[in-house]
Amino acid sequence: MPTTDVPPITLSASVPRQLDALVVGLAEASDAEILIGLPEDVAKSLSKTTGLEPIALARRFGASAKPGRTALLAGPAGLRVVVVGVGPIDVTPEQVRRAVGAAVRLVAGLPASAPQVVAISLETAEPQLIKGAAEGALLGAYSYRPATGEAAGIGQLMLVSPSRKPEARQALDLAVTTATAVNTARDWVNTPANLLYPESFADDARQLARGAKIGIELWDDKALERDGFGGILAVGGGSQRKPRLLKLSYAPRGARFHLALIGKGITFDAGGLDLKTADGMYTMKCDMAGAAAILAAVTAIAELGLRIRVTAWAAMAENMPSGTAFRPSDVLTMYGWKTVENGNSDAEGRLVMADALAKASEEKPDLVLDVATLTGACMVALGERVAGLMARDDQTADLVLDAAEAAGEQFWQLPIPEDARPKLESKVADLKSTGDKYGGALTAAAFLSEFVPTDIPWGHLDIAGPAFNSGAAYDYTPSGGTGAAVRTLIALAHALAN
Ligand code: BES
Ligand code: MN
Ligand code: ZN
Repeated sequence: MPTTDVPPITLSASVPRQLDALVVGLAEASDAEILIGLPEDVAKSLSKTTGLEPIALARRFGASAKPGRTALLAGPAGLRVVVVGVGPIDVTPEQVRRAVGAAVRLVAGLPASAPQVVAISLETAEPQLIKGAAEGALLGAYSYRPATGEAAGIGQLMLVSPSRKPEARQALDLAVTTATAVNTARDWVNTPANLLYPESFADDARQLARGAKIGIELWDDKALERDGFGGILAVGGGSQRKPRLLKLSYAPRGARFHLALIGKGITFDAGGLDLKTADGMYTMKCDMAGAAAILAAVTAIAELGLRIRVTAWAAMAENMPSGTAFRPSDVLTMYGWKTVENGNSDAEGRLVMADALAKASEEKPDLVLDVATLTGACMVALGERVAGLMARDDQTADLVLDAAEAAGEQFWQLPIPEDARPKLESKVADLKSTGDKYGGALTAAAFLSEFVPTDIPWGHLDIAGPAFNSGAAYDYTPSGGTGAAVRTLIALAHALAN
């Protein structure tokens, strides 16, 4: 940290000779399965030594066109050939991303003599497919390596493509920057909370931003106090590790659109005095995934030099129970002077987000988007792989959904129904932080909405489900931090840039 590096990846017109591993595809055409990208000489050699057609051989070793299904074959001269199912032959970028991710993940995980040079041969020519393949490879090659960890995995990746167009190179460069940002967010999320806390997280992010044309402003606990950030201070008050608010500003000349991104940066969510159960707490180092996503995304957007102004606000705190912790029923004065009755100290995310949303809105950005691992209720509704999207207007919702579609991430719109706001009525403050036991993702959104003036378009991304994979790795998704929302945010900036 802070620069997460990816193995070098280059385009190649043909399958190179010096090679340790080769990834080819198995696709489903109208009436048969077909192998894609297997060079003639390798095919011949496989047939010669086994007496089988390559496709029959692949099947015998478990290959099928089923998306993400992999089989490992022994090729000539120690070459390892990975056959990966890609599904229907008219592939989408996300299909390619998943297939290549699964294949490269398998290669990267091979014991001991990890293959040094790996080629991916799927006959991808269109820029969007090249981008998907390259991202799949770089995301699939990821593993979290703590500072003391073992040596790097794959040495070099080569993407075989018949395209010689400049667009192919541009797609590759975009994929490298994007995947690096996703992997950076993953590293942050995977770093345990004793090693990543508000101060160290902010330091890390500042160092990352220093390499790009990004302005940096940091509020420490004293500055937060001076400026009246009552939500962030209340949540962070129970911890020895003091809260922070980090602002990263990318403002290129000639930009016409100003996008504000707000991220939840709870470096550990113990639940505060409303202490979580052991099971519920175990994965809560992931509760800063929203902040990780916006910080990694703004850095990537700056590196790409996109013509759009982006201001990222990361609200960082550790939610701990202690004698200095904020209590259920406490009344907090938030940034901007609204008062909030704390309904539950485990509903801490919305409090830190509210302060940051109010502050970010002062600049009157053209669009405010927040990203947060906000509610377990969103996971109950949509499962672990689909993020929730809430907005006050459909134009904003469609903007995000289109970007997510282009990036290959799964979002589903949830409503902010009119009965949500009345649930937040308080007898002692302007509003209460929690509603009743129903529709928790929606009441949380209704709460956040109060902190963005209605004349500013605003959207809310609840990534509680997809931010952290507590199960086994699949496709290009590792277990642990996933980097959810990073690709969508970069795609959105692309769509909004001039
Ligand atoms: N960080 C959690 C939400 C969460 C849960 C994220 C599981 C990822 C996985 C959040 O701070 C929280 O605790 N929310 C409470 C809100 C409730 C007390 C109103 C929840 O969802 O239970
Ligand atoms: Mn919580
Ligand atoms: Zn939380």
